Amino acid sequence: MGAGEKIRVVIVDDIAETRENIRKLLQFESDIEVVGVARTGREGIDVAKETKPDVILMDINMPDMDGIAATETIRRNIPFTQIVILSVQGDPNYMRRAMLAGARDFLTKPPSVDELTAAIRRAGKMALEEKDKVPAAMVGGAGVGAAHLGAGGAPGRVIAVYSPKGGVGTTTIAVNLGLALHNDETPAVLIDGNLQFGDVAVFFNEQVKNSIADLAPRVEELDADVLSDVLINHASTNIKLLAAPPRPEYAESVTGDQFTKILTYLKKLFTYIVVDTTSSLDDITLACFDICDIIILITTQDIPAIKNTRLFFDVIDALSIDQKRIIFIMNRFDKRIGITPEKVAESFKREIPCVIPMEERVVIPSINRGLPFMMGDKSRPVTRAILQLAETVRQRLSEIAEMDVDKSPAPSIPLRKMAKK
Ligand SMILES: Nc1ncnc2c1ncn2[C@@H]1O[C@H](COP(=O)(O)OP(=O)(O)OP(=O)(O)O)[C@@H](O)[C@H]1O
Ligand SMILES: [Mg+2]
Repeated sequence: MGAGEKIRVVIVDDIAETRENIRKLLQFESDIEVVGVARTGREGIDVAKETKPDVILMDINMPDMDGIAATETIRRNIPFTQIVILSVQGDPNYMRRAMLAGARDFLTKPPSVDELTAAIRRAGKMALEEKDKVPAAMVGGAGVGAAHLGAGGAPGRVIAVYSPKGGVGTTTIAVNLGLALHNDETPAVLIDGNLQFGDVAVFFNEQVKNSIADLAPRVEELDADVLSDVLINHASTNIKLLAAPPRPEYAESVTGDQFTKILTYLKKLFTYIVVDTTSSLDDITLACFDICDIIILITTQDIPAIKNTRLFFDVIDALSIDQKRIIFIMNRFDKRIGITPEKVAESFKREIPCVIPMEERVVIPSINRGLPFMMGDKSRPVTRAILQLAETVRQRLSEIAEMDVDKSPAPSIPLRKMAKK
């Protein structure tokens, strides 16, 4: 900290006595000031946003939102704030999860005053260094995703929405799922991966001034300013859109490699990157499969869609797609049709965790008005189904994160060398 400046600390713990004890331990430290306390993860996020502290002392087990989830959100929103986890859990798994979420340090409860102040001073120094790195405009959170930019936050997750059959509702689902996942704390961006005839912007009644074709030549120099020129901000929801080029002939100006670089950059700015893809397995779709964390695979109750789904399942190994990353769903479900989700699940020997009902009276006008149905009445069956899909996505993402944690620590010998042995 600069001369005379104190390290500003927030304590997040659900037990009043613990909060008080920590506060007492710190009260005689002239360079440390407790600027706020919170009782739950969610409250911690609010207090952090208000006070923008240098260091947060964070408990793990708390009601409503645990300390690890809160850490992730805070690191995204206030990149310079450093988080020290305080927990009774000695479990190394917890420690790794906390570190993956962006925590800086891990202390076992109850810490000694020396341990505590040493950790706070280390973290305080990091906060100062991070503040120097992040341009002033971003500390305030202005501009496209700027509040989320910066060092250390956990990277965003890419969700590809795909069907091997056109016209089954891929765009409808991508758009509404994006909205269901999007909020101030977990911002989402929708990418139109249908570069020839993409219609994501139309679903929001937005004009396309700039598109992904404007980013392609600049993939080596992407920054928040370049992005805010190109991303469309949908004013009533604040969700950001990356539109397809305005004319089909521009589609070829974006290569798979450029597409990957754009998505990689967006992972730094957004929690969720939802990509609406085309049925054809072109370079863009394949690049998207390579980088994505989850593929939402859509089928419907008609034979051509089922036939293409089977063909797709036959090639996923060849495409090196991990089966665990697929969420297989059915759209436009009509109970009068005999090809039921149960029968389809049985025939593919795969679970269908979400079935989205056919609801033409809601879906068709929402597209024609450019007002996605997720913005309206949340009690409709189709809206509820999308909310359930969003929940399934969140859950699968956290399962995948756990699996990845189990796989770590990364081998110190490069994998290629190991394979040769
Ligand atoms: N759950 C639903 N209930 C009723 N109609 C639906 C539903 N989902 C999609 N539709 C309708 O299906 C049509 C196609 O939807 P959409 O454009 O999202 O499909 P797509 O798979 O993206 O098509 P394309 O292959 O052209 O990109 C639209 O008219 C939409 O209104
Ligand atoms: Mg579409």
